[in-house]
Amino acid sequence: MRRRFTPSEGLGPLYNSSSCAACHEQPVTGGGAPNYRNFFLVALGTEGSQVPLVVINLPSQVLPAFYGPGFGAGRIVVPPVGPPGVAITMAQRAGPPLFGTGLFELVTNATIIALSDPDDADADGISGRFNRAPGLLVGRLGFKSQANNIESFIRGAARNQMGITTNPVAGSGAAVSLASCRLLQVPTGGPNDPITDEDSIADPEISVPDFADIIAFCRFLAPPRRLALTESSARGQTFFEQVGCTKCHLMNLTTSLGTIQPFTDLLLHNMGPGLADGISQGSPQPSLDGDTTTGDEWRTAPLWGAALNAPYMHDGRAGTLLEAIDTHGGEATGVLAAFNALSAAQQADVIAFLETL
Ligand code: HEC
Ligand code: HEC
Repeated sequence: MRRRFTPSEGLGPLYNSSSCAACHEQPVTGGGAPNYRNFFLVALGTEGSQVPLVVINLPSQVLPAFYGPGFGAGRIVVPPVGPPGVAITMAQRAGPPLFGTGLFELVTNATIIALSDPDDADADGISGRFNRAPGLLVGRLGFKSQANNIESFIRGAARNQMGITTNPVAGSGAAVSLASCRLLQVPTGGPNDPITDEDSIADPEISVPDFADIIAFCRFLAPPRRLALTESSARGQTFFEQVGCTKCHLMNLTTSLGTIQPFTDLLLHNMGPGLADGISQGSPQPSLDGDTTTGDEWRTAPLWGAALNAPYMHDGRAGTLLEAIDTHGGEATGVLAAFNALSAAQQADVIAFLETL
């Protein structure tokens, strides 16, 4: 994760950073990143528009941007070029922590599907639906649950963020709960295909054993350990449940290794126009919202390790837990209103609870 690639080893030609750890570094390797590491996604057209990406100078939906000699301190963004007259939607993504993420590979499709309620049959205003990665695999990774397994996700990351090409390690065998998949955000090619790029360095630019080590690192990073409850945080847990945070931030999730407590349902929720980014990823289960991810939809963020995960939300817009809660809209509107109806002391209890996760 900390290995820094150089151009002579295949870095680039365009890249957002020279190592995985650059964006997964806080408070230790495997964590998140400050906002200056944010990368950009692009899609052709307005809200909800999607790949196939015809932005002609990019290999994928990820916009390669870089710091480099001669470019000063500022960030050089390679401007996406699309057909004349067609709008381009751009959005930011902040590096999330990876602790415990591998356990999401051990949640079965059946568990995720059973949690979904696409047409809000129980009429509680909350209608989570599951996303699908290419190949119709049930998604669980990424801010829109757009990816099914770590190998496919990070082969995309290596290519899109660093210009590092890979060969498959387990290939389609890495898919969880089904037998085939395609790579996230690499527009062509399946899981068993090598990835290539246009620099002069021979592909793959990292050996299969080295890449297997990166996969293993991501897969086996343990979730943060919960702290003992204090009087305040124990009260906070009660309020957290009472106001309805647990309708999305599910306390318990079943895996093949037993129950975990990530505080997510891995489902997509419409979070309202304030958080919307206009980018759709994956192909969610059909519902009243349609069968395309709307720009408003996000995977419920896991809350384990929350105390150390700032900045919060998909683009790192919230610096504190309270600010993060305040951004909730859409399906969470009623729950936010209930939270706001708590006294300041009660809200502080909820924050104290989040800090124990
Ligand atoms: C430029 C910053 C950046 C770099 C470099 C980067 N990542 Fe990430 N990583 C992110 C962001 C942002 C996300 C969330 C992306 C999304 O879902 O849209 C992410 C998501 C992930 C996830 C899924 C997390 C989850 O909760 O589902 C894994 C695993 C991961 N990265 C591993 C890696 C590995 C391994 C590398 C190196 C090959 C790498 N990343 C390089 C920024 C980065
Ligand atoms: C309708 C579903 C839903 C409900 C209800 C809900 N959340 Fe969330 N929450 C989300 C989603 C989705 C995100 C991520 C959105 C994004 O990244 O833009 C999130 C993000 C967060 C984050 C930021 C985590 C991070 O690492 O970025 C915190 C903290 C949080 N929620 C706390 C709460 C609390 C406390 C409540 C109850 C008052 C609550 N949420 C209710 C869906 C929900």
